[in-house]
Amino acid sequence: MSRKALIAANWKMYKTPAEAKAFVDSFLPKVAGHTRDEIALFPSPVLLPAVTAACHASNVAVGAQNIHFAEQGAYTGETSVLQVRAVDATHTLIGHSERRQYFGETDAIVKKKLYTALTYGLVPVVCIGEMLEEREAGQTASVLKRQITGAFGGMTPETAEPIVIAYEPVWAIGTGRTATPEIAGDAHRVIRAEVAKLLGPGVAGAMRILYGGSVKPENVTRLMAQEEIDGALVGGASLDPDSFAAIVKY
Ligand code: PGA
Repeated sequence: MSRKALIAANWKMYKTPAEAKAFVDSFLPKVAGHTRDEIALFPSPVLLPAVTAACHASNVAVGAQNIHFAEQGAYTGETSVLQVRAVDATHTLIGHSERRQYFGETDAIVKKKLYTALTYGLVPVVCIGEMLEEREAGQTASVLKRQITGAFGGMTPETAEPIVIAYEPVWAIGTGRTATPEIAGDAHRVIRAEVAKLLGPGVAGAMRILYGGSVKPENVTRLMAQEEIDGALVGGASLDPDSFAAIVKY
């Protein structure tokens, strides 16, 4: 089954609005007419209005890095799905490992956020991945299965259809240590098989599974050569327009 790749930039807590605008002004001409892959930028919430305005009518989509599971409410410091939608973002990351590690996001919270994103029509990119200790203890497959069941359990195949998964081994994020294409490919096969068990082979075969963790212009081609890898979620190497454009055009 052919799946259109998604190459996504996770800017984390970097850039001011002026820097974000300068990035987009430089980046768009570099990827103009690029239709082989979908492209998306995930800036901080305060940057979303500037970035969605700058990307308007281009081939680059924009998403939030996080949403709250409530539609709106007394949740100081959080960002609601209505706010994200109102500034024309179309995607959201959910359950990034930094959210899980530093902000206490559990599988149960990820599930609630996923439900909210789908209800309000955002394309969710659900991030999963094992920690180094878990890999070394031979627990990679069981961790991935737990995270998938936690997020998707009880969902209907029709509801799940827009979901994108990002496999991001925590030991490869921001460390310069990339999973080999074979390690990533193996993990992606475990993930797809688990999705098939929960949601059926049709949904599993069509679902895009991105790889994330120290993706760079130098290693993207080998990663994308794996049939199981349907795109990349890029942190550090997405902050510079030349570098991210080189990744998009691997
Ligand atoms: P990295 O981050 O590319 O800097 O490793 C990836 C991510 O956290 O999404």
